[in-house]
Amino acid sequence: MVKAAVLGASGGIGQPLSLLLKTCSLVDELALYDVVNTPGVAADLSHISSVAKTKGFLPKDDGLKHALTGADVVVIPAGIPRKPGMTRDDLFKVNAGIVRDLVKGIAEFCPRAFVLIISNPVNSTVPIAAEVLKAAGVFDPKRVFGVTTLDVVRAETFTQEFSGEKNPSAVNIPVVGGHSGETIVPLFSKATPAFQIPADKYDALVNRVQFGGDEVVKAKEGTGSATLSMAFAGYRFAESVIRASKGQAGIVEPTFVYLPGVPGGEKIAKATGVEFFSTFVSLGTNGAEKAINVLEGITEQEQKLLDVCTKGLKGNIEKGIDFVKNPPPK
Ligand code: 2OP
Repeated sequence: MVKAAVLGASGGIGQPLSLLLKTCSLVDELALYDVVNTPGVAADLSHISSVAKTKGFLPKDDGLKHALTGADVVVIPAGIPRKPGMTRDDLFKVNAGIVRDLVKGIAEFCPRAFVLIISNPVNSTVPIAAEVLKAAGVFDPKRVFGVTTLDVVRAETFTQEFSGEKNPSAVNIPVVGGHSGETIVPLFSKATPAFQIPADKYDALVNRVQFGGDEVVKAKEGTGSATLSMAFAGYRFAESVIRASKGQAGIVEPTFVYLPGVPGGEKIAKATGVEFFSTFVSLGTNGAEKAINVLEGITEQEQKLLDVCTKGLKGNIEKGIDFVKNPPPK
């Protein structure tokens, strides 16, 4: 019996993500929560002839409590998206408070759930979630994840002409660090199966993976950021977490985790100087089983990218932690 909850289910990411979860045969119950429109989204999805019983909840009548009670997996795409010219960090002011309050609900109503955070800036919202759960005495670092799957999905897609794979996702490319601009570090040298990128194409390719989200923001002309590809990526990660929780072995996904709380993470934290970091993680019945260190033997170019990444990431992480420890006046 798996209950999944989507917080922010009526939004641009929330709706396609909820659709994918509704079609997943591993999900028995699907709870959709948002500040508006969830009854409509849930009614629509409920006509699909798949396993999951789907219900929509609003803030009134203890909606968050009912959506979260009994949830095994909670995915959070709630918040506002970027407009052209904005960085993910520009969303902090609004989204930080939204994530904090939703995670307070998780701490109260489903503290053992796997928490998958999509809301940007992920580099800060995951530390916010960790601090909220810590304060409530229920933080289990193996169960709290920042969804960075889209960076790997983009790297797989953008390198297809060099990997030569018909199906781009057949190539495994680690993308480490965070989920924002220069904190996103693709490690092409660690791709399996290995492939070569011509030297004159390398910088542009790195830049495209780092700023791929901006391409979508620009193309959408002010109406938002990536929703469909993000929903695909969020679903890919959610499905992996669910499969692993049901005992399927050998599942490895990229994700942004609190390194000191995940076996194998300490070493990566020491090497990078940051406590929250995205890397390949093997997933098991209790969530993150092992953080896999892919940093050994990276190229000089990749090390330079990593140095820039960790500098930016440190500030993003501190900002999130500080937001919970010293809340801004209302
Ligand atoms: C992106 O990478 C929305 O953060 C998301 O496009």
